[in-house]
Parts: sequence; C-alpha cells; structure tokens
Amino acid sequence: MQRISHHLLLCATATQAKCCDSALGAQTWNELKSVVRELNLENTERPEGIVLRSKADCLRVCERGPILLVWPDGIWYADVSPDRIKRIVEQHIICQQPVEEWILKRTPFEKINDLPAGKI
Ligand code: FES
Repeated sequence: MQRISHHLLLCATATQAKCCDSALGAQTWNELKSVVRELNLENTERPEGIVLRSKADCLRVCERGPILLVWPDGIWYADVSPDRIKRIVEQHIICQQPVEEWILKRTPFEKINDLPAGKI
C-alpha cells in the first residue's frame, strides 16, 4: 500500500459558497494542484509518502475561506488564497513548519492507541 504523508482538503468551490467567493476558491484550488505537481509531491517514490489533495464541498467553518485542512496534523488555515498556497506547501508540508500566522485552529489527530481507556 502506498504511503501517504499528508492529505490537503480545500473548501474552495462549495455548492453553498458560504466561506469564499467561488472564483477565488477555484483559483486557489488550481494553484494548489499546480504547486503539488510542481514540487513533485505526488511522486510515488517520495520517501515520506505522497501528498493527496481533495476539494471539499464544505469543512463546516463557513467563513474566512477558502479553508485548508492539513491531515494528519489537524491544522486548519483560513483566508487561503493562491498567493499563500506555495508558502503553506513549502513551509508546512516540506519543511514541517506550519505557517503559524495563518492558522485558524488545530484539531490534532489522536491515534486510537494513544487514547485513554474508555475513550474508544
Ligand atoms: S462553505 Fe467552506 S467551510 Fe463551509
């Protein structure tokens, strides 16, 4: 099975278009696709694993979009725009240094084995 390093979920062109203008969302999505390709992050030979990207219809934030959620880190970026994508991908995904000033919230993923007994 292919190793996955990150999954990037972008609410860009939501049917309800609550969090951002759909044209801005579409431009941001296109930039995300091209940056991921340009940086060769979909290469199956990448030792850290491939980077997946998905267009989400709504991530239930519905303001300050486009919203970008980075798994498995559980880091949510707000006000993402085409000119912010490259820095987020290079700094967060490649250098493992999230762009603190653009983070909306953190919801760290808890591994099942890390949960206290009774919380499963
Ligand atoms: S419409 Fe983008 S988070 Fe809900």
